[in-house]
Amino acid sequence: MAGRLEGKVAIVTASAGAGIGQATVRRLASEGAYLVVSDIHEGRAMKVAEDLKSKGYRAIAIPCDVSRRDQVEELVKGTVKEYGRVDILVNNAGVNKPKPVLEMDEESWDYIVNVNLKGVFLCCKAVLPFMLKQRYGRIINVSSVYAWMPTRHGDACYAATKAGILAFTRCLALEVAGTGVTVNAVAPGLIPHPYMVKVYPEEVLRELESQIPLGRGGRPEEVASVIAFLASDDANYITGETICVSGGWYFKA
Ligand SMILES: NC(=O)c1ccc[n+]([C@@H]2O[C@H](COP(=O)([O-])OP(=O)(O)OC[C@H]3O[C@@H](n4cnc5c(N)ncnc54)[C@H](O)[C@@H]3O)[C@@H](O)[C@H]2O)c1
Repeated sequence: MAGRLEGKVAIVTASAGAGIGQATVRRLASEGAYLVVSDIHEGRAMKVAEDLKSKGYRAIAIPCDVSRRDQVEELVKGTVKEYGRVDILVNNAGVNKPKPVLEMDEESWDYIVNVNLKGVFLCCKAVLPFMLKQRYGRIINVSSVYAWMPTRHGDACYAATKAGILAFTRCLALEVAGTGVTVNAVAPGLIPHPYMVKVYPEEVLRELESQIPLGRGGRPEEVASVIAFLASDDANYITGETICVSGGWYFKA
């Protein structure tokens, strides 16, 4: 598989954590891409980029809160300054603060919507002029099975943003169809990593895991491999599509 993304320039948002983002930068780098490790946490992003460089890959770190237009513009500017182009955008950043609707305050609602949904819009808008000029681009948005699946765990706002991402993906795919730019989404199921116990209690995670047809949560690398496929020329004829990476889990509440 090495070389499938040779020399392609990829931005992955929120790629310094323990989950899908970091697994994605590592996978794209292993296939030959030049990486921009971006995260709201500058120090952690720099560490990941340094580690990639120590392994012989090309990588830089650019901090960015995806909900801030000025920072998103700096991210894309910095990418183009370093590499001269931008081929792949993985909109991975997504947050959740589970609360039943009656208990959710407006500030939390705005925070989740601004990161999860507005962030995708801002990042797409910032890279598109470059991608359209190049007549080449691969945008992959990270949604969730919660886009379809109702839960009793306070995920209404999060789920609404993830469903919004799918609608946005399909509309943008049509808007740019035929320009060399494709826009797709992945919808992960449950992908446990150490940080997740801060979001959901351990017993909720166990309950969710027990519902998965393949009998276990997924690994971040198992989502990253699907993102790498959608970012590659193997997926040239796919646009506006969503691939569930969920061990068969999305039809149960
Ligand atoms: N892990 C799961 O079970 C799961 C399931 C379905 C969907 N997802 C989605 O996958 C994506 C990745 O989630 P993950 O759990 O694998 O974690 P991850 O490690 O990929 O992402 C966490 C990182 O996001 C960064 N971040 C937080 N707010 C940010 C912001 N405003 N701007 C930029 N970076 C920010 C954090 O600093 C952290 O490093 C998210 O969109 C999430 O909603 C995850």
